[in-house]
Amino acid sequence: MANILAIESSCDETAVAILSDGKLLSNVVATQISVHERFGGVMPEIASRLHAENITVCLSQALHESGLSFEDIDAFAVTRGPGLIGCLHVGLQAAKTLAMLYDKPLIPVHHLAGHIYANEYVGEFHFPLLCVVVSGGNTELVLMKDHMDFEIIGETVDDAVGESYDKVARVLGLPYPGGLPIDQHAKNGKHVYDLPEPKGMENPLDFSYSGLKTAVINLVNSMKMKGEPVSVDDMARSFQDVAVKMIVDRALKAIEMHKVKQVILAGGVSANSYLRAQMKEKLEGSDVELIIPPLWCTTDNAAMIAKVAERLYEKKVFASLSLGVDPNWKIDHWDDFE
Ligand code: KG4
Repeated sequence: MANILAIESSCDETAVAILSDGKLLSNVVATQISVHERFGGVMPEIASRLHAENITVCLSQALHESGLSFEDIDAFAVTRGPGLIGCLHVGLQAAKTLAMLYDKPLIPVHHLAGHIYANEYVGEFHFPLLCVVVSGGNTELVLMKDHMDFEIIGETVDDAVGESYDKVARVLGLPYPGGLPIDQHAKNGKHVYDLPEPKGMENPLDFSYSGLKTAVINLVNSMKMKGEPVSVDDMARSFQDVAVKMIVDRALKAIEMHKVKQVILAGGVSANSYLRAQMKEKLEGSDVELIIPPLWCTTDNAAMIAKVAERLYEKKVFASLSLGVDPNWKIDHWDDFE
């Protein structure tokens, strides 16, 4: 067994965690949300610079909390992708430097595998397993027949669901990131606005959010132009009903098609209260077990990267110091990095 230090910097959270023989000794997250909030979205240049400023502080704090020193670390793990290129670079350079300095293995981890394996802090995996990966940058249904065996069986053909939450929130004058405010406003609203669901998808497990997002933006703008009041609560509810239904419908279809035993939710949008309630309701009384991650696991963190790295350490999946980042790394190619 080993002490693993993991670094995550793919978007707007700089995070460092230390996992020791399955025990999480530290889990430090420095979020940049308050900075990006002003721009209504993540500014990649600013995000990279903030990662560079924060990484050493996060590393020191993680070590301090763990009671270990760098010499005690057996491997340095890092998110190699997907994510923002400049942000990924900061984490990778830090991990490479430490691996070189302390002459220890470098472990490249796929960000979404991290979101999926965050659920191992909650319960054991049973296969075949369906991962509903819903975040700001990704919307995918991933089938797992074994550990670290990922098959993408459905994905968005355009926008990610979290991205559409953020854009809809923006047009409604709600703060960034828009997922939580929409979730909260939707609780007080009624489904009064007629919004479209995508039809005729070639793969029935694929998603499309751009039509829904554009329909909300156009409707809000045309109501404003006509001087009609827009109910934020009702628009949030109408949008969320369609956005979540798309996820639930496809997940149920995939469960049936692939005789799935367990379903796990992963990614930022898995914090959504309506999605959680709907999935619970639909699977109640069935043989399919649902794992819902605790809220701390739904946002970016390095504990989830460490969890994957622990498995890769045992299999000796190590990278050379010439490793580069991959902003578009696909999860089914997680072991393709040289
Ligand atoms: O996993 P994450 O940090 O994104 C990526 O790594 O790509 O997730 C962030 C996304 C944002 O789009 C945010 O609006 C959304 O997750 N989100 C939510 C909720 N909380 C966060 N979406 C819907 N309902 C929520 N309660």
